[in-house]
Amino acid sequence: MSTHPVVYVLNGPNLNLLGKRQPDIYGHETLADVEASCAAKAQALGLTMAFHQSNHEGEIVETIHRARDEAAAIVINPAAYTHTSVAIMDALLAFEGPIIEVHLSNVHRREEFRSHSWVSKAATGVICGLGSRGYILALDAVADLLGTEAG
Ligand code: DQA
Repeated sequence: MSTHPVVYVLNGPNLNLLGKRQPDIYGHETLADVEASCAAKAQALGLTMAFHQSNHEGEIVETIHRARDEAAAIVINPAAYTHTSVAIMDALLAFEGPIIEVHLSNVHRREEFRSHSWVSKAATGVICGLGSRGYILALDAVADLLGTEAG
């Protein structure tokens, strides 16, 4: 196994508006802030991170296909596609490494439709309700699951 496994951190629709979008629910940090925190954490854990955001379902599916060749693990906040996308679930089912699903908000405290996740059927684990800290915890979990934690 490489000493610096690659982890893809994928973000779904509207997350490009993080910080401006419903900050009472999603917080004031921007996606660039989240990316910077994730990059620092990944480096500390001895992981190489590739961070992506897309508003397009097919583009997310194709990024997951690329991960099959390029990544050892996936962290994904599929945003609204969580609740609708069998295509993203199927793409993730074709990925062999650990998959951590992250949501900034506690989806179970919100509207009923947010309680169902297609993506959870393909995920190794799910973190929700802890804001951007969820991404950091997901990277910790990835390092642990891959057995690469530094120090
Ligand atoms: C979200 C929760 C989803 O229900 C919602 O559609 C999002 C963001 C979250 O991070 O809390 O866009 O995934």
